Amino acid sequence: MAVNKLTVVGAGNVGATTAHIAACERLGDIVLIDIVEGLAEGKALDIAEAGPIQLYDVSVVGTRDWRDTANSDIVIVTSGLARRPGMSRDDLLAKNVRIVREVAENIARHSPNSIVIVVCNPLDAMVYAAARVTGFEKNRIVGMAGALDSARFSCFIALELGVSVEDIKCVLMGGHGDDMVPLPRFTSVSGIPLTELLGPDTIAGLIDRTRKGGIEIVNLLGYSAYYAPAAGAVRMARVILNDSKSLLSCCAYCDSQYNAGGCFVGVPVVLGRNGVERVIQLDLNEAERAQFEKSLAHVRLLAEKVDALL
Ligand code: LAC
Repeated sequence: MAVNKLTVVGAGNVGATTAHIAACERLGDIVLIDIVEGLAEGKALDIAEAGPIQLYDVSVVGTRDWRDTANSDIVIVTSGLARRPGMSRDDLLAKNVRIVREVAENIARHSPNSIVIVVCNPLDAMVYAAARVTGFEKNRIVGMAGALDSARFSCFIALELGVSVEDIKCVLMGGHGDDMVPLPRFTSVSGIPLTELLGPDTIAGLIDRTRKGGIEIVNLLGYSAYYAPAAGAVRMARVILNDSKSLLSCCAYCDSQYNAGGCFVGVPVVLGRNGVERVIQLDLNEAERAQFEKSLAHVRLLAEKVDALL
């Protein structure tokens, strides 16, 4: 069987960590690409040199030449500016849309059959930009946010309850911003609804911390998170390459679903070898729907900004 090929675009904190986790999981041969001279080459070499210790045999190559990425099965886009203290994800839009445009053109040229996982911010807008520029079928463009935000929510729930993170399953919708919509009604601890185990005030506190999970880390470090975002991207790549048909929250194209009217936004989806195999339609109650629609309106506004810049 042919070995899978993964390209990771951007060799900063998220990109390099993504490449390393993907190598540890032996997902396939990895190409790390960046425009900064020596950066991708150096990080890739370092990751390759960890192979004999961590016992992975995959090839890890760093480059500045898009031709080395040719015919990738999956391309993970991490390139772009990351947040600093005092910045919102939206502040990154104008600069990152230019970067994503160039990256997406190269993906379309060199890996026309790939599935693209977008990680850079503002997430939902960058997914839309990548979809517009590549012209790929919508199921082949997906954004990594739900995997991260669900992981944060799960982590905080596990800490609160003193249970294993493995036991928590949660669904989270909307854009990857402060108005994201964690859904306690669809969150369980080994099948027990979260609402049976914690009171509404405690749950509200955990939701608030999840919504502010990105900035909590920016404020501690002075720059953006990368271990959990990278782990989220690799999880999606693994699910796609293994055709697992796993149900995850991702930024995916929705038209009639949730009345989104042709928007890329966070929803529960089934992921498999075709990318987004289908969107799961949940019957939201009034309060959940209102929160989702508020977040969707924000995502739409950012997509309009992308349209004005592309
Ligand atoms: C975060 C950034 C990566 O949520 O959006 O940490």
